[in-house]
Amino acid sequence: MKIRKAVIPVAGLGTRFLPATKAIPKEMLTIVDRPTIQYIVEEAVTSGIEQVIFVTSEGKSAIENHFDYNFELDMVLKEKNKISLGQELEEISNLIDIISVRQKKPLGLGHAIWTARHVVGDEPFMVLLGDDLVLNDQPCAKQMLDLFAEVQESIVAVQRVPMNETYQYGIVEGEALERKWTHQVHRMIEKPAPGTSHSDMAIIGRYVLMPEIFDYLGRTTPGHGGEIQLTDALLALSNKRGMYAYEFQGTRYDAGDKLGYLKAILAYGLNHESLGAPLKAHLKQLVVDL
Ligand code: UTP
Repeated sequence: MKIRKAVIPVAGLGTRFLPATKAIPKEMLTIVDRPTIQYIVEEAVTSGIEQVIFVTSEGKSAIENHFDYNFELDMVLKEKNKISLGQELEEISNLIDIISVRQKKPLGLGHAIWTARHVVGDEPFMVLLGDDLVLNDQPCAKQMLDLFAEVQESIVAVQRVPMNETYQYGIVEGEALERKWTHQVHRMIEKPAPGTSHSDMAIIGRYVLMPEIFDYLGRTTPGHGGEIQLTDALLALSNKRGMYAYEFQGTRYDAGDKLGYLKAILAYGLNHESLGAPLKAHLKQLVVDL
């Protein structure tokens, strides 16, 4: 089985980033020279995904517009002889085949994914969260798709977090396998109360899921925070058939959180071809001044 489709849920309210996200989707906030969501779509494309399914909501049309062709803008850029800029914009609209589905109420990440069930159909698929960035030469999605080619089962991407921060994440308990960075999942807990889990493996926003997940999501009742939690359905799925946790290579940034966003701007800025060196010089100067 090959993974062709990626679901990118972008229907959340983005309350952690208010007031910036009152009228602008958090996925459209800029990291250096492009919106967060563009990095995520580019990760999917360079990893071999053929179709992206956005789960959107009211007020998120800027995301769809960003990947659409803007005829008027293209004409103006041509008239002004800004050819390379026009080409760059056209490349964005040609990136990939995009379909949108609407989540009418923000009932949680699990519900957002369930909303995409008819478009995904009966095949394994990937999920990339619209505000979770992973910086690495080899994209996180590609690393997971390579693992899927071997194991043909669901995979959650995990990172180690300090034990006193586990209550902020979905936590996986499992058994390390011979294959490097790979674990068999035994148990999952959404935002465990301190002391209730001994694992430091936190789930981040990249998943490979078997289509059976939709059956479990359809049956999942609201959990933590009154939302339909993906973690609850994942646990049910992992009890039924195998599931793997994969310690991806790279650094993850939560761009939906103010501090995470600032860190992402610095990391992507330092990694930028032409801006990296002058930004580094500026940061060094700032450190001297501190
Ligand atoms: P978050 O936990 O970041 O929630 O969702 P949020 O509502 O977007 O932001 P805060 O916490 O209020 O600041 C993780 C991902 O799941 C999507 C979000 O868009 C984000 O990509 N999501 C969440 C939905 O699509 N629908 C939902 O009902 C909830």
